Amino acid sequence: MTTTDSLTIAVPKGRILSELMPLLEAANILPEDAFFDEHSRQLQFATSQPQVRLIRVRSFDAATFVAFGAAEIGVVGSDVLMEFDYPNIYIPLDLKIGACRLSVAAPEEVELEDMRGLSHLRAATKYPNLTRQHFARRGVQAECIKLSGAMELAPALGLSRYIVDLVSSGSTLRANGLKELETVMQVSSRLVVNRTAFKTRNAEIAELISRFREALG
Ligand code: PRP
Repeated sequence: MTTTDSLTIAVPKGRILSELMPLLEAANILPEDAFFDEHSRQLQFATSQPQVRLIRVRSFDAATFVAFGAAEIGVVGSDVLMEFDYPNIYIPLDLKIGACRLSVAAPEEVELEDMRGLSHLRAATKYPNLTRQHFARRGVQAECIKLSGAMELAPALGLSRYIVDLVSSGSTLRANGLKELETVMQVSSRLVVNRTAFKTRNAEIAELISRFREALG
């Protein structure tokens, strides 16, 4: 790979984008107009830095692109990094955006003591590894049903009594008759780098990291 190749930054779709934009601007990485058009089907975007392009992908996929070196850099939630624990991802910066928590939730009538008394439970989640580890720490065996979204439907439809999902304002839980029982982890977005790329293209990538570090103030 030569230094004239572009550097690809994988960024997640959705609500983190609005928090990420001021950081990209402060780092002087200004995406082309199509990036701001939610209806555009375009997936790759040029920026004001000729060698830097952005790709807009699902949050779990941003980690996958970086782990396999398809993108050199990414913005990935600490939830995803902990769930997959990719050995080839280096995590130089906490961007302090996308703050939320991964929590256990259940129907409103379920009490924390009910759950604490169990030796086995079933939970619907996008995070089977973190869920199993969380419960295993106190000797509870968690049977996980993997879903990709809409976990909040699982209790009402009898799929599982418990869910483990991201909570920010709590309004999705409330709208579905659920309440938070305990926190698994606090979450924020990290700037991540493919370890191999960090060795082979160190000067360029280190320069980009320092721009983000400065942007954070
Ligand atoms: C997340 C999460 C919850 C919701 C929580 O989903 O999975 O459903 O946000 O936020 P709240 O506590 O503020 O209601 P998101 O909207 O990011 O979309 P996703 O289902 O595609 O992950």
